[in-house]
Amino acid sequence: MKKTVLKKMEELYGDANGAKVYFAPGRVNMIGEHTDYNGGHVFPCALTIGTYAAVKKRADRKLRFYSMNLEKLGVIESSLDDLKPSDAADWTNYPKGVMWAFAERGMKMDCGLDIVLNGNIPNGSGLSSSASLEVLTGFYLRDLFGFDVTNVDLALIGQYSENNFNGMNCGIMDQFASAMGKKDHAIFLDTADLSYQYAPLVLDGAKIIVTNSNVKHSLVNSGYNTRRKESEQALADLQKVVEIKSLGDLTEEEFEANKSAIQDAVCAKRAKHAVYENQRTIRAVEALKANNLKEFGELMNASHVSLRDDYEVSCDEIDVLVEEAWKVDGVIGSRITGGGFGGCTVSIVKDEAVEAFQEKVGAAYQARVGKTADFYVVEIGDGPSIVE
Ligand code: GLA
Repeated sequence: MKKTVLKKMEELYGDANGAKVYFAPGRVNMIGEHTDYNGGHVFPCALTIGTYAAVKKRADRKLRFYSMNLEKLGVIESSLDDLKPSDAADWTNYPKGVMWAFAERGMKMDCGLDIVLNGNIPNGSGLSSSASLEVLTGFYLRDLFGFDVTNVDLALIGQYSENNFNGMNCGIMDQFASAMGKKDHAIFLDTADLSYQYAPLVLDGAKIIVTNSNVKHSLVNSGYNTRRKESEQALADLQKVVEIKSLGDLTEEEFEANKSAIQDAVCAKRAKHAVYENQRTIRAVEALKANNLKEFGELMNASHVSLRDDYEVSCDEIDVLVEEAWKVDGVIGSRITGGGFGGCTVSIVKDEAVEAFQEKVGAAYQARVGKTADFYVVEIGDGPSIVE
């Protein structure tokens, strides 16, 4: 990958003298979905796939971006004096948003950059290609301009830019997983205060399989922002009867005792998911620590049902993938992962069933949906790095 991006840089911009190559990972979330903006827990891990960039400083204030994944768009030019979102800027709104967010915090770049990007996360698959791009940008800005920020700051700046520059009101999970990833570990993060623990996720006799429905989660912006508003409405109603800061403060029992305060039936379903999913996530991590993979899998399955029925962020194609996965012997758990409305599922599958899983789920998906599913047996990797 290093050679490929450097070669492209030479080809496009004349030379790659003094360029450095950087990497930031995508993520998969094991459990704890749509809890991160509700003050709950999440349990994601960084992947070994992600986004790479060759970057070099310029003498002027120009910015030149090129993505090897979107070659048709060619070189997209901009300038440090024009850090505003625009349709024409297309995907470069993500790196530009991060540059803008640094500047907002008083960390101003003193020269422009030439950038060539190449990623191996399938776009729009729910494996956080955008968060990896944001964390990657923050990571190379810190390295090249000496900005004094921690990796947690990189996550927060990425989220801030996505919320305020790109209009997607995402939580902190994806950027946190990318910036703070640790090989062979998942991150048990409490989004209420950003406290976290790493939990080993080397499964004895089983693999983590990500299945891509190849349905791009295009509704993600609108549908996502609506879910967020519905959760906030439910919280506001509940706050009239209980003293809580977020839905993550409630146990299932407390929710059941107070849910009648929620005026709207749809908002009540959303809140139910947020509360129960948070508790499931806490329990799932306990189960994992106790080596009880069976219970972990059952909680993953329950998470899917709740996301399908109460939070309503699944879709027919994803439901087929999950239902078919549940039928295969040796599948410990399977659920939708990420923002939803398409994208991927995550499954834990016993070693001896990995092949059968891909064959059976792939064939059933083709037969029932008429589409091809892609399977990745994923490895859990580290956070961002300079590629030597
Ligand atoms: C998207 C968002 C995250 C999180 C998930 C759902 O990936 O970016 O912040 O809310 O959806 O769990």
